[in-house]
Amino acid sequence: MNLPKEQLGLRRLRLNPLTRELVREVRLSHEQFIQPHFVVEGLKEREGVSGMTDVFRESCDSLLRQVEADLEQGVNKLLLFGVPAKKAESDFDFDFTAGQLAAIRKQFGADVWISADVCLCSATTHGHCGVINDMGDHILNTATVGQLARAAAAFAEAGADCVAPSDMMDGRIAAIRAALDADHCERTLIMSYAAKFHSGLYGPFREAADSAPRGNVKLADRATYQIDPARPGDALAAAQRDAAEGADILMVKPGLPYLDVLAQLKNELPTCPWAAYEVSGEYAAIELLAERGLADRARAHTEAWTSLARAGASIIISYGARHAKRWLSGATT
Ligand code: PBG
Ligand code: ZN
Repeated sequence: MNLPKEQLGLRRLRLNPLTRELVREVRLSHEQFIQPHFVVEGLKEREGVSGMTDVFRESCDSLLRQVEADLEQGVNKLLLFGVPAKKAESDFDFDFTAGQLAAIRKQFGADVWISADVCLCSATTHGHCGVINDMGDHILNTATVGQLARAAAAFAEAGADCVAPSDMMDGRIAAIRAALDADHCERTLIMSYAAKFHSGLYGPFREAADSAPRGNVKLADRATYQIDPARPGDALAAAQRDAAEGADILMVKPGLPYLDVLAQLKNELPTCPWAAYEVSGEYAAIELLAERGLADRARAHTEAWTSLARAGASIIISYGARHAKRWLSGATT
């Protein structure tokens, strides 16, 4: 066969796996990952979560075993969601979650970095992220912020390195910072879910955390407090405000559908550490594709994570964090 002469251009950098490795612009490390955990009061045996392979609603005992197993996989940073048995409408009791944080700290000491989700939705009778008025049609901002600040102080005292408010009330970062400082917890970090959108991708989480809106309140969803997906400008305003109020780390959530927002915010606030939360529905979407043989699990997750890093995230919160070290080094299972 008389082939024409090869004319290569951009492809020359793609021909050899070691060349490809050499010229990558984005490099991921398992050190950037935070592993979420759910711990459920009163649970005897841990339970799976629909759509989320290798993610569990943990009992108090299984939580500690899972943290230990994760440490062996190289994951030493976690985000804890406590799910108390007793639901209330106000005056919440944060002892269960505080106790779990203290237990992790006691067992693992400084080997783990612990962040604690601060919200009310796993503790309310109605599943909303705040205190509701008597009419059942409005989330009360000031009353909610008061409870959140109390929770944050309790979690910091129990040993959390970082508190992460996910409620989306106004003014909560300033209130939490003041409560932490007043409680001699001035070294505790705040990671703000600043750009948290009103997403349809939180389904598996709500099952795991008992936090779906329910009951006879008039608010069917979280649209009155989470950011409208069509208002990226709100995300910028919230990020600037939360940074000014004292947030140490800012977050965009969900991840892949909001890469434009992440890239823009990183550009506007370049010195702040930016986290991206690959939420439960995003994670489950890839798991379900892989289960049906329609995607290579490790490769699809790695691609999603690379996109988050490319858009500006230096921190990635993912339910697959416990696989990151293996998958990033090329393992396929
Ligand atoms: C609740 C909360 C949610 C997530 C973190 N904290 C869900 C929601 O707002 O309903 C989402 C996490 C996920 O889907 O993985 N405050
Ligand atoms: Zn909530």
